Amino acid sequence: MKLEPVSKIEGRIAVPGDKSISHRVALIAGLATGASEISNFSTAVDCGSTLSCLSHLGVTIKREGERVWISGGAPLKAAAAPLDCGNSGSTMRILSGVLAAEAFTSVLTGDDSLRSRPMGRIIKPLSEMGATINSADGKAPIEIHGISSPKAIEYELPVASAQVKSAILFAGLKAKGTTKVIEKVKSRDHTERLFNGFGVQVKTRADLSVTLDGPACLTGGAVTVPGDISSAAYFVAAAALLPGSELLIRDVGLNPTRAEYLSVLSSWGCQIGIDGQRDERNEPLGDVKITGGVERGAPSAVRILKGAAIPSLIDELPLLAVVGSQIDGGVEIRDAAELRHKESDRLACTAQNLREMGVDVTEHDDGITVAGPVRLRGARLNSFGDHRIAMAFSIAALLADGPTEIDGADCVDISFPEFFRLLRSVISA
Ligand code: S3P
Repeated sequence: MKLEPVSKIEGRIAVPGDKSISHRVALIAGLATGASEISNFSTAVDCGSTLSCLSHLGVTIKREGERVWISGGAPLKAAAAPLDCGNSGSTMRILSGVLAAEAFTSVLTGDDSLRSRPMGRIIKPLSEMGATINSADGKAPIEIHGISSPKAIEYELPVASAQVKSAILFAGLKAKGTTKVIEKVKSRDHTERLFNGFGVQVKTRADLSVTLDGPACLTGGAVTVPGDISSAAYFVAAAALLPGSELLIRDVGLNPTRAEYLSVLSSWGCQIGIDGQRDERNEPLGDVKITGGVERGAPSAVRILKGAAIPSLIDELPLLAVVGSQIDGGVEIRDAAELRHKESDRLACTAQNLREMGVDVTEHDDGITVAGPVRLRGARLNSFGDHRIAMAFSIAALLADGPTEIDGADCVDISFPEFFRLLRSVISA
């Protein structure tokens, strides 16, 4: 994909439905009694993987673009072949929780990237709940021998992961007694909010514990998925950094465990406003308005992102490294070793591409320091097959001197197939 620099972007857009919420809503609808109608379901290939796995497990699903109808409540059936989760960590990890509580054997596999990612983190708690799980070196393919009545456990998450928390909560739906997950740092809470929205009470406490009393039955219904803030994030960055830009993004999910990105950019002098906040099944959403041009104060020291903020920014960190290269003082990101276990090693890939564009970068075991502000130089870059790297550097390309070529940029389909079309529409507006 070849991208040219632009002077500003303009328009009113909407981004597709949130990927994390779409995975969960599909799984909830498959397990819930009654029919569910999902509007604005994510167009991400990853969410298609969740629907396809569910249909191989006997769930009746009809899809027309962004509308999905799911008839839930019938017992799941063993799939005839291994379930292909594609590139999707959320599909593999959260579905494992569902299948740990089904008294049949399932095999879950995925593409090369997914088969290289750590699965020990779900194998451990789900085994404690009574499932027998086989895998080589804690990597997919994983073979799950589930049980119909898992044990309710109390589990402290060693790493902040909403996927692991969600796997335990989904298995906990069928466990007798209280399933309790304790987090050290709060991760995205869509499962908790949506379980409550679909009739199963989940209690979250200030000590970061989450409890669910099982067995508990979800009730299906209609839901509209808010726009994906992690997709909107690329457009927010472009509009904020290009002076003269005016952009409105409608119906963006503003769950506080996801919206930290907007607060960070505002604290860096970006001009971002929110209108029309409301709720959809306990998930907040609203319109995000961005005016281009960073308000510069006194020269700043390096901006530091670390600690409890990191899980709420996890998918935006490569993009924040790019934005940091345009901000007085640059940015230092720490406590983010998890980025090495995403669809690519996002610390190494971000560092490599930023250096290609002329930025001074220091890589740490758990983070990255990016000097700024720097005039970016157009370059030949690699997506490393990672959708978030491809999109973060497409935004960098708009800010650079000269054209940029990103190899393998079609991987954006994993989370945001409309990305380049939508980007062109705001450039030519
Ligand atoms: C997700 C949680 C995060 C995030 C991923 C989606 C989810 O992963 O990076 O894109 O939907 O729960 P971890 O739970 O591994 O941090």
